[in-house]
Amino acid sequence: MEQQLNQLKAEMLQKIEEATNLKALNEVRVAYLGKKGPITDLLKGMGKLSAEERPKMGALVNTVREQVTAELETKAAILEEQAIQAQLAQESIDVTLPGAAMKSGNRHPLTRVIEEIEDLFISMGYEIAEGPEVEKDYYNFEALNLPKDHPARDMQDTFYISEEILLRTQTSPVQARTMEEKQGAAVRIICPGKVFRRDSDDATHSHQFMQIEGLVVGENICMSDLKGTLDVLTKKMFGADREIRLRPSFFPFTEPSVEVDVSCFKCGGSGCNVCKQTGWIEILGSGMVHPNVLAMAGYDPKKVSGFAFGIGVERIAMLKYGVDDIRHFYTNDVRFLSQFERAEG
Ligand code: FA5
Ligand code: MG
Repeated sequence: MEQQLNQLKAEMLQKIEEATNLKALNEVRVAYLGKKGPITDLLKGMGKLSAEERPKMGALVNTVREQVTAELETKAAILEEQAIQAQLAQESIDVTLPGAAMKSGNRHPLTRVIEEIEDLFISMGYEIAEGPEVEKDYYNFEALNLPKDHPARDMQDTFYISEEILLRTQTSPVQARTMEEKQGAAVRIICPGKVFRRDSDDATHSHQFMQIEGLVVGENICMSDLKGTLDVLTKKMFGADREIRLRPSFFPFTEPSVEVDVSCFKCGGSGCNVCKQTGWIEILGSGMVHPNVLAMAGYDPKKVSGFAFGIGVERIAMLKYGVDDIRHFYTNDVRFLSQFERAEG
């Protein structure tokens, strides 16, 4: 019987050794140590043994059972650890792998131009002003020396919300608003914003576009100050070699008035579809503030003078970045917009 037990023990240890997973191991346990297993059978057969053999045999069986149980536990611990390791290996994440890149946008070319011009004028001591896009007829026209029946209104026809309220055709109403607010004090502002006109759309015109108004009022402000300021602006935006020209013009709110043209970036001045065969692209209108405008805003034109300008933002962006159609700015095509990522800085 002892021999049988030893053989059984060897068999069990062998099976335990061979078990490759917890399930198989449990099967070994049930098969050998369970109620219907050979160990139980052995214990049951103990009745047939003599009185002195019985306790010896009983102790032997118990020892074997303990040994086997201990072996089962050790093996179970090993298999459990292996199972955990396998699961960990399967579920592990490599934190050093590159992540999914987030698509980031970039600033719109018109925003870039506005910010660049704002920075320049802030560096010269200007403040940034704001005004409403839905404006009173009074500020858009009348306070700018354009009474109700003035023929120059025709050039800036716009959308009227009522007889007295309209979509502003220019940022110039901010001149009148600012002077009213400053109540006779010196002024040095620029004001970027949207304007609206009944213009037919082409390569350089849109029914909605952006302007940056500038206004300086104080003692002894003269035309040479305006010229010097425009010179600084154009050199900053286009570099020293781009040609500019000042052309006499007319605005009811400035006297004298000039318009500033920059040589066409596409044809270099020989004439093409972008510059309408003229070789030049107009970027801004300007002049010395008309005495009537100063007087209407409560300033004494005998004591103070001023200059003003209105820059076309899209035109600057077109010349600066070589964009040959103004409509590209408004269509939100990422293929167009993403090209300006590199212009950052
Ligand atoms: C004006 O709007 C005047 N308020 C400018 C001014 C301000 C003069 C202060 C004197 C003193 P003008 O209509 O020329 O002027 O427009 C100014 C600039 O806006 C133009 O030089 C041009 O660059 C741009 N611009 C005009 N119309 C359009 C348009 N339809 N689409 C895109 N840009 C335009
Ligand atoms: Mg003009």
